Amino acid sequence: MFKFLIWLKEVDSTQTKLKEGNFPNGTVFVADLQKGGKGRKGRRWESREGGLYFSFVLSAADFKESSQLPLVVGLAVSQALEEEGLKTFIKWPNDVYVRGKKIAGVLVERSKDRVIVGIGVNLNQREFNTEIKNTAISLYQITGTEVNRIYFLSKLLNIIDKHLRHFRLKGFSSFFKEKIEEKLLFKGEEVIAISDKPQVGILLGIDAEGFLILKTASGYLKVNTGDISLRLYR
Ligand code: ATP
Ligand code: BTN
Repeated sequence: MFKFLIWLKEVDSTQTKLKEGNFPNGTVFVADLQKGGKGRKGRRWESREGGLYFSFVLSAADFKESSQLPLVVGLAVSQALEEEGLKTFIKWPNDVYVRGKKIAGVLVERSKDRVIVGIGVNLNQREFNTEIKNTAISLYQITGTEVNRIYFLSKLLNIIDKHLRHFRLKGFSSFFKEKIEEKLLFKGEEVIAISDKPQVGILLGIDAEGFLILKTASGYLKVNTGDISLRLYR
């Protein structure tokens, strides 16, 4: 699935780099650091040296259902981190958490005929800027040892490749629903899904399409991916 890999020292964003050029499907851009790393809704993604930042391009025709993609890719990231000895959780729809803090994020953007997937994983950073220092965590901060980024990236790309093939051929519900539910952050807890209309309910799990299922005061509610932020309701 991954055919070309370009590793840059510094870039604005691997995501915009791929979006702006006409690179073939299967191209991967990696950068040591990003000056303008971005998350969902145009938020900033802190991308100092030590982290792993990469994006790749897929054919939109092969992946028509992009709301499940961040979950499938997020599962791969969480499994790669578990191979390093961590206990990880998936925060629906696009983040990976360890010890209640964010260790990785996935960004999926779709154009007419391409899907660009961007992944940021906090690996060897010693610290973060003040804004996120209480909510972000790196592998190094947990294990006290550096991980080789080339080794980690190739391992992660292998898992992503395997999952994307399975997803394309067999869909989401056969395998991913169950695996993701096992790792779902806030499962069984009262959460608030913040969008135009905030909804409060107990997080029960996800359905066969990857929608979040909440049990609210007025019944069961399915929440679609989109610009939704999930928080504990306290
Ligand atoms: P939600 O997904 O619930 O909307 P979020 O705060 O996780 O909320 P995202 O858009 O997924 O939002 O991610 C961007 C946010 O992640 C930033 O606003 C910042 O708070 C946080 N962040 C930025 N860089 C990093 C990083 N390297 N590691 C962990 N967290 C980061
Ligand atoms: C999020 O949690 O909102 C998603 C964060 C995605 C960050 C990655 S780092 C590589 C790629 N380039 C970017 O500018 N963003 C993504």
